[in-house]
Amino acid sequence: MTGGGDCPGLNPAIRAITKTAVFCHRMEVIGIEDGYEGLIKNKTRRLETKDVSGILTQGGTILGTSNRANPFAYSEEKRDVSPKVFRNFRNLKLEALVCIGGDGTLHIAHELNQLGMPVVGIPKTIDNDVEATDFTIGFDSAVAVATEAIDNIHSTAESHHRVMIIELMGRYTGWVALHAGVAGGGDVILIPEIPYKIERICQEVKRRSRVGKRFSIIVVAEGVKYRDKELVVKRRVKSSTDPIRLGGVSYRIARQIEELTGLETRVIILGHLQRGGKPTDFDRILATQFGKKAVDLVKAGEFGHMSSLQKGEIASVPIESAISSLKKVDLSSPLVEAARGVGTCFGD
Ligand code: F6P
Repeated sequence: MTGGGDCPGLNPAIRAITKTAVFCHRMEVIGIEDGYEGLIKNKTRRLETKDVSGILTQGGTILGTSNRANPFAYSEEKRDVSPKVFRNFRNLKLEALVCIGGDGTLHIAHELNQLGMPVVGIPKTIDNDVEATDFTIGFDSAVAVATEAIDNIHSTAESHHRVMIIELMGRYTGWVALHAGVAGGGDVILIPEIPYKIERICQEVKRRSRVGKRFSIIVVAEGVKYRDKELVVKRRVKSSTDPIRLGGVSYRIARQIEELTGLETRVIILGHLQRGGKPTDFDRILATQFGKKAVDLVKAGEFGHMSSLQKGEIASVPIESAISSLKKVDLSSPLVEAARGVGTCFGD
């Protein structure tokens, strides 16, 4: 089952699980459609190895997904339909559930496991905000898309002598903005983990102007707070595990920069493009290893655990350790230090 927002790398994980299960253990694999919705409404289909052939390079998920269907708080009335999920699980004669998901999906997986369901997890999300793993599936692919976008903005920024702000996803953490910002050579990178001052950003773009760099690229994470106080919410999705959808803080920052510096400023919000396209080689490799590890965990009966990357090695950790808090950017990490070393301004 794939749950939560989609990302490149889900299909390689589904492929790895199915092939490993069938080839190595002669297990039977059932795909659950549309995340937990499929377990609530009994939407499933048998997965044979031929069904997962050719999907290694495809983005998205052949099973469909949903970031709304929470069995413990279903639909806008927030009904507890978990008994139905257990009934369907039993009727399907399932012996294990592999949940490929981010923070929300893994929380639910943990709750189901606490109630007795044999669950194994695989961490995925472009946000990379899941604890107890170095990387989640999808993050590298999102960074690749965002980096290319930053690369492409450079020429138009330079030609028009403008300040260009590119806003990236990532919810409450700055992983995508930090990595793509460094890879794309952002002059200013704003992430939720580092409170910024607008005066500091203006000082930096004016300094660049003075030394002949008549353009600046500012990479902004959607979870940055306006005036360092207020999250900018684009919409609320009541039935979702996390109802807040962020977006738009860059328009406010752009207005302030224009007022304070007189420099023409434009905004690009990259949005769901970051979740599209083919998985990178890194994500294909990670998903293949995570999928294999998840099947090993099922075989060993190590339920309540998930595949994880620990200092470059494939390992397993209790799902609980991955969901206790959000994994934030470590401000003393070599990457932040290297970015500061090459003169990147974090607005602080
Ligand atoms: O968690 C993945 C993510 O893409 C976030 O980066 C973003 O804030 C959110 O999902 C967008 O959600 P939706 O697809 O519901 O608009």
